[in-house]
Amino acid sequence: MRSNTNQSRSFASDNNAGVHPRIMDALVTANTGHVIAYGDDPYTERAAAKFRKEFGKDTDVYFVFGGTGANVLGLKAATETYHAIICADTAHINVDECGAPEKVTGCKLLSVSTPDGKLTIDRVKHFLHGVGFEHHVQPRVISVSQATEMGTVYTADELKTLSQFAHQNNMLLHMDGARIANAAASLNRRLDEITVKTGVDILSFGGAKNGMMYGEAVVFFDRSLSQNFKYIRKQGTHLPSKMRFISAQFDALLTDDLWRRNAEHANRMAQLLADELRSVPKVRITQKVESNGVFAIVPAKFVPVLQKKYFFYVWNEETSECRFMTSFDTTEEDIRQFVGLIRKTVR
Ligand SMILES: Cc1ncc(COP(=O)(O)O)c(C=O)c1O
Repeated sequence: MRSNTNQSRSFASDNNAGVHPRIMDALVTANTGHVIAYGDDPYTERAAAKFRKEFGKDTDVYFVFGGTGANVLGLKAATETYHAIICADTAHINVDECGAPEKVTGCKLLSVSTPDGKLTIDRVKHFLHGVGFEHHVQPRVISVSQATEMGTVYTADELKTLSQFAHQNNMLLHMDGARIANAAASLNRRLDEITVKTGVDILSFGGAKNGMMYGEAVVFFDRSLSQNFKYIRKQGTHLPSKMRFISAQFDALLTDDLWRRNAEHANRMAQLLADELRSVPKVRITQKVESNGVFAIVPAKFVPVLQKKYFFYVWNEETSECRFMTSFDTTEEDIRQFVGLIRKTVR
């Protein structure tokens, strides 16, 4: 077992956090009586209405169990097997989904090396040769992660530029929004302002990293893309029978801006963590801290010592770059204790 059970909160992942009390209350409240299974229930209706309120009345939303499923099935809805999906080399779909996007969509992933996890037109445009040529896969989707896997955030203008480029070239813009809440909080924007209004076509909307127990949503902003999605979701094994328990969580997350408050807190804790780490001479922050992740080079010989008390991931073994994530329940005291240990150890 990797974690030390005496350590109540670590910095390994926002997935390691528990469930926000208001979400837990919503689950308990939903646990009354019987409702029709598979989503034909009042909880799902209410949650879907909340999504339409955030993103616009034409939004079509489908709840699924997890983020890999949301990405893979959303991409499946937009592609044929001879298509290609362009993404950053650091993208979750490229490195952390065990080849599921390739297996399920049949598409080739064309990955782009990026220093900060972000795609730009310059980085993707060379994939557009061979369009219409039957010997080449046909680029169909640009997939961005917002926030990125490196903790950076695309501005609304950067997204608009990418979506315009995608649409001009008969492609779609997909967004892996496992941390969309952190991005919106970071930019101080509404959810629609950094998705549908910037030209995003399909969004994976994250729940688990922001206080939910489980559950993510595939959000379509163009109904022509979602017309067969109910079959794709079922065939893709992501139709939850007891849907109400995902819906009730989303309903709570989208009530009174709980999503934003959780994300703002996590982001603020990441800023604090970064500020504290900057005062440790042998630790070097490597990425802009724009959401709830801090990337830092910690000299390799100290890493196992720190990991005995706090499990965290080494992102790049060659450079000893480590990833520290904060979450909705991280406290200032957690950070003081963690950085205190780093200060004592890394000398
Ligand atoms: C950027 C990103 N996308 C998607 C996911 C969803 O993954 P899972 O299938 O574990 O819910 C994660 C989880 O770590 C992630 O970091």
